[in-house]
Amino acid sequence: MSDLLAALNSLRERLKEIPQADERRLQELKTELLGRKAGALTEILKALPGLDPDTRKQVGGAANALKRDLERAIEERELGLKHSAASLADVDLTMPGRRQWRGYNFYALNFPKDHPALDAADSFYLGGDLLMRTHTSPVQIRTLEAYPPPIRIVTPGRCYRRDPFDASHSPVFEQIEGFAVDEGITFVDFKTTLATFARRIFSPTTKVRFRPSFFPFTEPSAEMDVQCQICGGSGSGCAACKGTGWMEILGSGMVHPAVLENCNVDSEKYTGFAWGMGPERIAMLRHGIPDIRLFFDSDVRFLEQFAGSGEQKTAPGSPLPAPR
Ligand code: DAH
Repeated sequence: MSDLLAALNSLRERLKEIPQADERRLQELKTELLGRKAGALTEILKALPGLDPDTRKQVGGAANALKRDLERAIEERELGLKHSAASLADVDLTMPGRRQWRGYNFYALNFPKDHPALDAADSFYLGGDLLMRTHTSPVQIRTLEAYPPPIRIVTPGRCYRRDPFDASHSPVFEQIEGFAVDEGITFVDFKTTLATFARRIFSPTTKVRFRPSFFPFTEPSAEMDVQCQICGGSGSGCAACKGTGWMEILGSGMVHPAVLENCNVDSEKYTGFAWGMGPERIAMLRHGIPDIRLFFDSDVRFLEQFAGSGEQKTAPGSPLPAPR
């Protein structure tokens, strides 16, 4: 009798195989375990009539319980397989992939071929003129091609640059692109929008400054700095702002007329402004995070610090400081 119970126990072990089985393996398992002629469990059940009544009761009970468990597991697996086959049927495997976007990263944004600004972008080339996008600004072009002005968009996205992986750089990073095109948009709208953003995300008294810069797709162009939030703007001995008291958080400017004309938008009628900001840099400033690599380490202890109210400057549950 103990032989039969041991055989039942080792058969029970095989329950584990069922949820992993593919369709073919499941049929094999069904035959091997429950098959009417030579199934392993069937063999045990066949031996029951020869046993004395007490043993028969014990072995029979265990064998029937196992039979139910096997049948249930097989049924569940069959349903699961049917389900995934059905969801696969919804996927059109013949659907063509998205065509590679070509020409958006630089040329549609008014970078002349061989312009030195191309070098500054430190691109990852995949071969030929195909590259990983170095910034989110190409979305300006794709938006203008799809929608006539007035336009106001904010779009986040991943970008790639051949930058070192150190405390303040990462070869993979996020940008958030903002883009507004309408009749009558002026430089005042541009500066006010960005300064208001900085005062809402940091503090209402945060100082900002715009430094003249160059981007082929804006004229004039500016980089916006905010007062260093680590040293409070004093700069003295501060590694985060390298002693300057300021930190750059975005590039921006008034949309270059050539960008509008490239997309068949009348640059006499429409004007606009745009910016590309680095959310990792902004989070570092806001929360005093000393190293950008912490965003990519996937250490949940790092993220958990920002889940509760704790020591944060933020109102609990709010992504922004409470407006004052
Ligand atoms: N794309 C620029 C960069 O990655 C930043 C930038 C500058 C974005 C000016 C803009 C802009 O939209 O108008 O350095």
